[in-house]
Amino acid sequence: MCGIVGYVGSRDAASLIYEGLERLEYRGYDSAGLAVISNGRIEVRRDAGKISSLRALLQTSPVEGTIGVGHTRWATHGKPCARNAHPQLGSTGEVAVVHNGIIENYLELQKELAEQGVQFKSETDTEIIVQLVERHLAQGFSLSEAARRVIARLEGAHAIVLISAKEPDRLVVARLGYGGGVTIGIGDGEMFLASDIPAILNHTRQMVFLEPGQYAVIQRDKLEVHLLNGESIPVKVQTVEWESGSADKGTYDHYTLKEINEQPYTIASTIGGRVDFTAGQIRLPELNLTPEKAARIKRIIITACGTAAHAGMVGKILIERIARLPVEVDIASEFRYREPIVDEDTAVIAISQSGETADTLAAMAEARKRKAILWGIVNAIGSQAMRMADGCIPMKAGPEIGVASTKAYIAPLVDLYMLAVLLAEMRGNLEPAQRMTLVRNLYTLPDLVSECVARQSDVQSVAPLLKDIEHCLFMGRGIQMPTAYEGALKLKEISYIHAEGYPAGEMKHGPIALIDREMPVVAIVTRDPWYEKMIGQVEQVKARGGLIIAVATDGDERIPEIADEILWVPDIPWMLSPVTAIIPLQLLAYQTALLRGADVDQPRNLAKSVTVE
Ligand code: G6P
Repeated sequence: MCGIVGYVGSRDAASLIYEGLERLEYRGYDSAGLAVISNGRIEVRRDAGKISSLRALLQTSPVEGTIGVGHTRWATHGKPCARNAHPQLGSTGEVAVVHNGIIENYLELQKELAEQGVQFKSETDTEIIVQLVERHLAQGFSLSEAARRVIARLEGAHAIVLISAKEPDRLVVARLGYGGGVTIGIGDGEMFLASDIPAILNHTRQMVFLEPGQYAVIQRDKLEVHLLNGESIPVKVQTVEWESGSADKGTYDHYTLKEINEQPYTIASTIGGRVDFTAGQIRLPELNLTPEKAARIKRIIITACGTAAHAGMVGKILIERIARLPVEVDIASEFRYREPIVDEDTAVIAISQSGETADTLAAMAEARKRKAILWGIVNAIGSQAMRMADGCIPMKAGPEIGVASTKAYIAPLVDLYMLAVLLAEMRGNLEPAQRMTLVRNLYTLPDLVSECVARQSDVQSVAPLLKDIEHCLFMGRGIQMPTAYEGALKLKEISYIHAEGYPAGEMKHGPIALIDREMPVVAIVTRDPWYEKMIGQVEQVKARGGLIIAVATDGDERIPEIADEILWVPDIPWMLSPVTAIIPLQLLAYQTALLRGADVDQPRNLAKSVTVE
């Protein structure tokens, strides 16, 4: 949830850390701060609000040094203010900590320290870590040993980084449970660390991903990784292929707009190398799927959160239709506590952009415990979800920074389509001619997505209708029902308009009572097997005087007679239609948010990846 950056080397730590934090601000923007060891002392600069306040602080009060840690916060314990910002110092001022996670036994530890006379300076749970570490240092332990002993007492999932003025050449970083990720970047005579790859990608491609239950001691030219019992383990270095430029905003005003515009490339990369259009074949090598395994599967459960769960809903329809396998979609935070019925013949597919959403990781752990075949459709390379899965379909979306997920929504739609075709083929459910058609349907998809992205001016004339409204309904059926959910989620996330996605057939069982000109209804009425039914439902809204904004297929002659406004999308085989239909709705949310003056890339109260429960 929070973003962490660390540096040790010979360059100016504060500027490198600040630059990394800027790239991680999507993870939390309640406060930001950094600590640098400068002339044998720990110097802290931190402030409430966005990271730009930290920049101002660094300008008026610069800090010099070549080792330090930084943090951008999404508040859990203690309100967002400078006092509660990280880094947190203890009583001596000789140790600083940054932390991502929630200490579940915080009250118990706080009471223990208070009884020993500790006066807390913040309302954070994090301060407990540094107070405990200081007590161990006072007993003569090294920073890493003190950290190891303290970490062993913490409950919950955490990423923690400590520095000490007494050992000014090292960072100690630990990861506990499936909380925030920790990536260590290996440079030439310098080391970086960050919660997520984009923060350090412009410095190095050589990365080490810390697993839960590991801690590392990082010096400028040395890296040691240990288990929590102190045992040293081999360091596993991986090369990350992402382009660092892809994590920049470029010429766009917002990451969200940039990422919407990147979607044709997302689809081209998603398909690239995986589809043989001549043979009509799909290749998903990282999935480790064999015909024997495919034949064994009796049922599939897709588990995810937020936008990723909406992608899973489309996947359900695709896999059921194409591969004739029963599929359930389970919100990860529900799945994990429901004692789900899962066995070795169940394939559980976790979908996650970040690969570090705590609920999704916990659902994966639950599936693993119950011996399911465990797959991930994951964007962040090297993330925990990618590492946990037996097989993976890497989403080829590249870094997604805007909090509202866009390109990482359409990528898994295509991944699930390809998976459905592959499963069907391996299970012998698909005639070669059918398979060829399904595969070839993918050929024009990047161009069709490009066409949708290019229609931004259509949306510009519709967005003013939403600017001053308070509520909005989105309705869709069948394969477009998830589009309604996702369109509504985009609008509420970035423009703060109350929006609900609804299965159109359910409108008559309640929501239709809400219809008036003050509450627009966005209807997804594309050419698909549910088209006639949708027309009927749009008529019902119209009969009650509703204001209708339709997403419709080019050339449709009926919709202009019913809808007030139309967002046109190109004609496309219906199973791929959610990929294009969502694009005008992403743009609509974006344009509406701009008109309302909302902070598009960093909506209030949200964070890009939620590494706490
Ligand atoms: C957060 C983000 C959403 C995202 C969800 C799941 O709530 O704000 O945009 O859909 O987490 O994230 P994941 O990284 O697992 O796809």
